[in-house]
Formats: sequence, structure tokens, C-alpha cells
Amino acid sequence: MYLSRSLLWTVSAFVVVAAQSTDGILNLVKRRLPNHVNDFEFHLLGNSTGLLPSAINATNDEYSVSSTSDGKILVEGNSLIALASGLHRYLTDTVHVDIFWYIGSRLDLAPLHLPPLDVPINGSSIVPWRYHFNTVTFSYTAAFWTWEDWELELDWLALRGVNLPLAWVGYEKILVETLQELGMTDAEILPYFSGPAFQAWNRFGNIQGSWGGELPMEWIDGQFELQKNITARMVELGMTPVLPCITGFVPRAITRVLPDAMVVNGSQWDGFPVDYTNVTFLEPVDPAFTELQKSFISKQAAAYGNITHIYTLDQYNENHPYSGDLDYLKNVSYNTWKSLKAADPEAIWLMQGWLFYDQEEFWTGERIEAYLGGVPENGDMLILDLFSESYPQWQRTNSYFGKPWIWCQLHDYGQSMGLYGQIMNVTINPIEALANSTSLVGFGLTMEGQEGNEIMYDLLLDQAWSGSPVDTETYFHNWVTRRYAGSGNVPEQLYSGWETMRSTVYNNTNLSSAVAVTRSIMELSPNITGLTGQILTTINYDPAMLLSVFYTMFSAAQINPALWQNQAYQYDMVDITRQVYSNAFQSAYEELIGAYNSPHSNTTIAAAGKKLTNLMHTLDAVLLTNPSFSLSTRLTAARSFSTNTTLSDFYEYDARNQITLWGPDGEISDYASKSWGGLVGGYYLPRWKIFISYLEETDVGSYNTTVLNQRLSEFEMAWQNGTGVQEGAIQGGVGSLEEILGELVGSGVFSRG
Ligand SMILES: *[C@@H]1O[C@H](CO)[C@@H](O)[C@H](O)[C@H]1NC(C)=O
Ligand SMILES: *[C@@H]1O[C@H](CO)[C@@H](O)[C@H](O)[C@H]1NC(C)=O
Ligand SMILES: *[C@@H]1O[C@H](CO)[C@@H](O)[C@H](O)[C@H]1NC(C)=O
Ligand SMILES: *[C@@H]1O[C@H](CO)[C@@H](O)[C@H](O)[C@H]1NC(C)=O
Ligand SMILES: *[C@@H]1O[C@H](CO)[C@@H](O)[C@H](O)[C@H]1NC(C)=O
Ligand SMILES: *[C@@H]1O[C@H](CO)[C@@H](O)[C@H](O)[C@H]1NC(C)=O
Ligand SMILES: *[C@@H]1O[C@H](CO)[C@@H](O)[C@H](O)[C@H]1NC(C)=O
Ligand SMILES: *[C@@H]1O[C@H](CO)[C@@H](O)[C@H](O)[C@H]1NC(C)=O
Ligand SMILES: *[C@@H]1O[C@H](CO)[C@@H](O)[C@H](O)[C@H]1NC(C)=O
Ligand SMILES: *[C@@H]1O[C@H](CO)[C@@H](O)[C@H](O)[C@H]1NC(C)=O
Ligand SMILES: *[C@@H]1O[C@H](CO)[C@@H](O)[C@H](O)[C@H]1NC(C)=O
Ligand SMILES: *[C@@H]1O[C@H](CO)[C@@H](O)[C@H](O)[C@H]1NC(C)=O
Repeated sequence: MYLSRSLLWTVSAFVVVAAQSTDGILNLVKRRLPNHVNDFEFHLLGNSTGLLPSAINATNDEYSVSSTSDGKILVEGNSLIALASGLHRYLTDTVHVDIFWYIGSRLDLAPLHLPPLDVPINGSSIVPWRYHFNTVTFSYTAAFWTWEDWELELDWLALRGVNLPLAWVGYEKILVETLQELGMTDAEILPYFSGPAFQAWNRFGNIQGSWGGELPMEWIDGQFELQKNITARMVELGMTPVLPCITGFVPRAITRVLPDAMVVNGSQWDGFPVDYTNVTFLEPVDPAFTELQKSFISKQAAAYGNITHIYTLDQYNENHPYSGDLDYLKNVSYNTWKSLKAADPEAIWLMQGWLFYDQEEFWTGERIEAYLGGVPENGDMLILDLFSESYPQWQRTNSYFGKPWIWCQLHDYGQSMGLYGQIMNVTINPIEALANSTSLVGFGLTMEGQEGNEIMYDLLLDQAWSGSPVDTETYFHNWVTRRYAGSGNVPEQLYSGWETMRSTVYNNTNLSSAVAVTRSIMELSPNITGLTGQILTTINYDPAMLLSVFYTMFSAAQINPALWQNQAYQYDMVDITRQVYSNAFQSAYEELIGAYNSPHSNTTIAAAGKKLTNLMHTLDAVLLTNPSFSLSTRLTAARSFSTNTTLSDFYEYDARNQITLWGPDGEISDYASKSWGGLVGGYYLPRWKIFISYLEETDVGSYNTTVLNQRLSEFEMAWQNGTGVQEGAIQGGVGSLEEILGELVGSGVFSRG
């Protein structure tokens, strides 16, 4: 039934690439299951043509996994990604091992003798495309990723059946060369770029330039090399990379070489000073636009090969068009489309649909229709309905007026860390959408940052292989089995802890109180007002429930102490402890403010304040036991991109700035905050201490926001330029997780919060 939907689309020709081989999947097995290289056979079946799939004409993927008479596991499928998906299904459902973000590959835990299959396992996708990445994930999560990090990510994607990943890394290199060809000098080009941790918004035309240092050519070249590896691996694994192209955003100095260029200034973004925003936009109607497009796309193909026809292109992401006039909008998209077609006759324009939600007032139905309508062939566009689980736009836009689109789970902002999920929505709604919209061609993940809550991402990608909503109870149970592989039997307590979370933290249905991952108020700038009860800080379940989950899951390791050596258990216990503390912090904060607002003595504030700072001390110690929750991991990664201290310092500054002030002067401060060890103790704790001292010395009537803000700001600005790894507030040796949690439970500190 679903196969037929692909017939609806006008089509592009296939691209011939190297003869289809299964080497990519075999290499994955070599990397992750080195003891089993000879235990698997992979066969491409049916109409596998050895051709890259065209964008819109793609068919669903199908696999079958069975045992052969000579004891091997045979994986058959109609595409490489079908083979990877079939392999994954066998590994997760039969062998009970998987690969996870932050924990890494656990596939090597598979037993020496792989379990045979009495009955083949068959699977078929219900949508031809499974998409991954938000443009900003490249900055929030992947800015300082090495090739090794990318390899893990790409194996994760392949096994989960993702066949359409965004591939933004290295964009700047091709743009530099394109602009150089036009006659621009490096001195004109390089100051346009934003720092390593802010490239996503520069690519979107939200910001330009870099604070704290200029983006060096060393960085640009290194990322370009990295992208060669990334795109080659994507293709090898059977994915179609979505590559960048010319959007129109260019350095202001372009008018020196093109004095008649039709340029306009983009709008101001999020309070950034004009020098850093209002990015210059070359109007697509200008013939130079098409020339740049041709040059860019041919240079890109020369660098990475003719590996895709799908290009990511966002012109108005949180940016207002120069004019809201319908003809203007239609003309912009029409000429943009023409430029793509001139560069690649099979080009398909992929666009994030975020603007239609975020700038909903501007983007009225008729403006959307005009802008999308500028692309005459429906099949030449692919829209990401970016936040389908909370703010779907496909209904109000009448399925994007016929343009193909993808149902995406956004889930989190700025790589926030709260435990959160909408299990009902991501299982029920995409299936309903598929039944209602003939132009829906894929499901995808568009998180701003990859964080915890990994089960929520798995769930949607697995939903792409089931025609009815996944039964989440069974799903969670099976997921827990493979999550904790490697430590013998999984104690009942772990199943029961996750089952409780399934029906609480992961079952938000109240979209008026929370729409995405929440963040701890501990991470926000201290204030006597405005912190709690916001859409991103509301706790949507009974905190006592989560504390009981903590105890339940803690007791699992009393039954099976080997869990303390299990990386998944370590990660999850830190994560749950983090959330318990973050919840406890809210009540402690409310007590503090209550003390402050009542006729007080200095001692009640001091006592209430002590409670907050104690919580932060302890939490910092817990977080520091795990590199995935430590600031030092990110800062060390950033520094390692250069051997030149000046540049390492700049990269570290950039990494620090993104997660704290987010802008030269705190333009969107704390948006990408993190409960990381070293940041809790080294940044948030000092801020709260400044706040508590101020409350102690100032009665309610004399509270002066300016004075307090100055003190906070002085500390925040100084912290930006720190270097080297701060070990936070806990000095003199950090205990193991087992010791620290054991002490907390024993002393009852926990239950007192
Ligand atoms: C697109 O798909 C349809 C149905 O599978 C097929 O008939 C047509 O030949 C395909 N077009 C191209 C260019 O591959
Ligand atoms: C393979 O292609 C043939 C001819 O286009 C078509 O009839 C058949 O249904 C296709 N098989 C599959 C599994 O797609
Ligand atoms: C690309 O991969 C090769 C190994 O295949 C590795 O040696 C090289 O360092 C990688 N390039 C980058 C820029 O990481
Ligand atoms: C920047 O954009 C804002 C609108 O967002 C506008 O008011 C302002 O004039 C622009 N400034 C420049 C220099 O383009
Ligand atoms: C990519 O395709 C274009 C157009 O067919 C061709 O001119 C070019 O040589 C190809 N590039 C590579 C690297 O294969
Ligand atoms: C999912 O969210 C959408 C958008 O708010 C809402 O209309 C829909 O009812 C929700 N569905 C479920 C199953 O929660
Ligand atoms: C699908 O269409 C039916 C019938 O028009 C409607 O009742 C339902 O709300 C729609 N579902 C979604 C998710 O839009
Ligand atoms: C999730 O919440 C909805 C609405 O409150 C409820 O109907 C449903 O039973 C809950 N599911 C679980 C697993 O708790
Ligand atoms: C380090 O980088 C800075 C900034 O680009 C440069 O001025 C300096 O010469 C470099 N130092 C060395 C030793 O290469
Ligand atoms: C509280 O402390 C401040 C500053 O230390 C002091 O000026 C004030 O008198 C104290 N108030 C009380 C009620 O002790
Ligand atoms: C708050 O403090 C600032 C800076 O000291 C001062 O200029 C301002 O007048 C104060 N505001 C009030 C309401 O006292
Ligand atoms: C607290 O919040 C208020 C209202 O949002 C804001 O004006 C103020 O600057 C914030 N900061 C402090 C330190 O009060």
C-alpha cells in the first residue's frame, strides 16, 4: 500500500555510482563485531540497481534475516540501508546488544556463537525516508567531534535505518573557494564566518562574524578533510547525504567585486549587535546568484563526488524576508530553485519548516503558499515539518501545498538535558499523518542537540517500520534488555524503573505546560522571579515518583553489583540523579524565595541558601564521575583541534561561550545550558552564591536588578576567558559513582533533597 505513494511523484533520474557493493555493511561488522566477520552474509535483492535512489521516487526498504544451513546469519534486503536495518533488528531483538550515544558500541558483547533464527525476521519500512539532524545539531552537539565520534554516529544512524542525513561539516571551505573565484580576498571573506561553536547560525544567515577571535583557515581546512570522510562513509553505508549549497547569505564586502549586486540586509537576530547580524543577502533574481550556485555545487561535487541531489537551503530561518509581498516571496524561491536546477538538473531543495512555526505571524497561509509555490515541481522540494510532535504545521499548510514532507521529532532545544518524552504523540501521530497526507514521505529526528532520552529517538525511527503505533510497553521492556547488556541478567528493578518513567516523564500529553525537554532552573541566571513554571522549566510529573525510580534502580545494583561497571547503568544513574537534584533544587529555590519575601532574619536566608549550594556541591560530584556529564570533556575536545595555544584558547572560549552567555554579551544567555560537572560547580554555583549573598544583604524593598545583574555579569564575563579544565567545586579527588550514591542513600541526604 505504501509503496504506491512513491508513484505520485515526478521523478529525477538516478545517478550512477560505483557498483553497489555490500562492503559498507561488512566494514561496519568489522568495526563493531570483529569476532563475527565470517558469521554474516549480506545479499542485496530484487531491484537493487547499483544506483543511488532518487529523492522522491524512493521506495520502501525491506529486509529479511534468517539462518543458513551452514550456521551463518543471512541478511537480505533491497538496499544497503535495509541490510543495516535488518542487521540491527537481529542484534537488538535476538542478540540483545546495541550501540548508544555517549555509551558507545556494545555490539562486541554479542556471544561468540550467535543465536540462530528458527523463523526469519522480516521488516519493511512504511516511509521511504528516515531523516536525521537539525542544522543546529552541528553546533550544539557535533562542533568539536572528531572522526571517531562521527564514525560512532554514522554507525548508529545506519543501524537505525537512517538514509537521509544532513551533512553540513566543511561548508565554509567550499564557500571560501567560491568567493575567492569571484575575486574576493581572504581579508574580505574570513571575518564573515562565525566561531566553531556558532557556525550553524552563520550558515542560516542569523549571525555573521566571530567574537573572541577570528575563524582560522586551519579550522576550515580541517573540517573540510573531516567532511570527506563523513560523506564517503555515509555513501558506503547506503545513505543519501543532504549537502549544503548557496543560500544567498554572503559577506557584505561582496559589493566590491559585484558593485551592481542586488543585495539586501537580513533582519536582526535575537538582539545581536548589528555588526554580528543583519546578514547581507544576495537576491536570487540577481544572475550572480546562479553563477555562485553553479560554482559552489560543482566544487562540492569535485570534492566529495556526485553523491546526492538533495541540498539543504534555508533562507528565512528566524529571519524575516526583505518583503512580505507575495510576488516577492514567490520570485525568491523561483529563482533559488532555478539556480539549483542550473547547477544540478536533478536538484531537490530540502528546507526546515521551523520558520512556519517560529515566525507564524509572518508566515500566513498565503505567504507560505507563495513561497513554496515558486518551486513549480512539487517533487523538487522536501520540507521538514520540524516540530511535528508539538507544533505540527502540515495541517495548516494543507500538507505544504503538495510538497513532499517529513514528520520530525524535535524533542529538545539547545541540547537541554531534562528527562522528557511524548511517547503517545511520536507513535500515534506520524501514523495518523501518513493516513491523512499523501505527500508525507519520511519520519525524522531534528533535535537541536543529541542528549539523553535516547529511547525517544529510537522509538520514532522504529515507528518508521511499523504500520500501526508501536506498543511502547513492550518496546521499553526490550530496550531495557539491550541497554544493560553485558552484566548478566537485567534485574527486574531496571524494567520497573523504566516502566514507571514510561508512563510519567516519557508520557507528557499536556502541551500547555511543556513541549520539549526541560532544563533545570539551577542552570538559569538567579532571579527572584520568572524561573519556575515556564514552558521549559515546569516539572510535569510528581518529583517523588522520580525519587522512587532512583531508589528502585539503585537497588538493582545491590542485587547485581556488576551493574556498577556497566556504562549504560552508570550513565542512566547519573542522569536520573541529575534530574532528582534538579527537581529538588526547584523546591529549595522556592523556599529561599519564600524566606526572602517573608519578614526575615539573615539566618533564614542563609540556611535556605545553604540548602541550594549543598545540592549543587553534591550534584557536581556525581556528574564528575562520568565524562559524558563533564565540562572538561567538551573543553578538552575543543582545545584538541589545534596545537597552537592561541587557537586552542579561542576554541575553548567558543565552547564555553555557547553553553553560557551565547553571544559576546549574553545575547541569549543560558539557552544551551548544561548540568555538567565543572559547570554546575564552577559556573552555576558561584552565580547562586552571588545571588544568595545579595539577598542576605539586601531587604526586599532595596532589591536592585541592576546591581545584582552587574555582579553576575562580572563573574560570567570573567569565566568566558578561563582556560584549562575546571574541576568544579569538589576538590581533592572525586569518588566513584557507587561510593557517592551509596553515601547519599545511606545518609538519607537524598530523601531530604
Ligand atoms: C520512478 O518510479 C516509478 C515507479 O517505481 C518508475 O516507474 C519510474 O521509472 C521511476 N522513475 C525513474 C526516473 O527512475
Ligand atoms: C522490480 O521491478 C519490476 C519492474 O520495474 C517491478 O515489476 C517489480 O515489482 C519490482 N520489484 C520490487 C521488489 O520492487
Ligand atoms: C579520515 O579517516 C582516516 C582513516 O580512514 C583518518 O586517518 C583521518 O584522520 C580522518 N580524517 C580526519 C580529518 O579526521
Ligand atoms: C537590522 O534589522 C532590523 C530588523 O530586524 C532593522 O530594523 C535594522 O534597520 C537593520 N539594520 C541594518 C543595518 O540593516
Ligand atoms: C559530477 O557530475 C558532473 C555532471 O554530470 C560531471 O561533470 C562531473 O565530472 C562529475 N564529478 C565527479 C567528481 O564525478
Ligand atoms: C500530538 O500533538 C499534537 C500537536 O499539539 C496534537 O494535536 C495531538 O493531539 C497530539 N497527539 C497525541 C497522541 O498526543
Ligand atoms: C486525519 O483526518 C481525519 C478526517 O479528516 C481527521 O478527523 C483527523 O483529525 C486527521 N488527523 C490528523 C492527525 O490530522
Ligand atoms: C499517557 O497519558 C495519557 C493521557 O493522560 C493516558 O491516557 C495514557 O494512559 C498514558 N499512558 C501511559 C503509558 O501512562
Ligand atoms: C598561532 O596562531 C596565531 C593566530 O592565528 C598566530 O598569530 C600565531 O602565529 C600562531 N603561532 C604559531 C606558533 O604558529
Ligand atoms: C543582614 O546583613 C546585612 C549585611 O551583612 C546587615 O547590614 C543587616 O543589618 C543584617 N540584617 C539583619 C536583620 O541582621
Ligand atoms: C539601582 O542601582 C543602580 C546602579 O547602582 C542605580 O543607578 C539605580 O538608581 C538603582 N535603582 C533603584 C530603583 O534604586
Ligand atoms: C530577573 O527577571 C527580570 C524580569 O524578567 C529581569 O528584568 C531581570 O533583569 C532579571 N535579573 C535579575 C538579576 O533580577
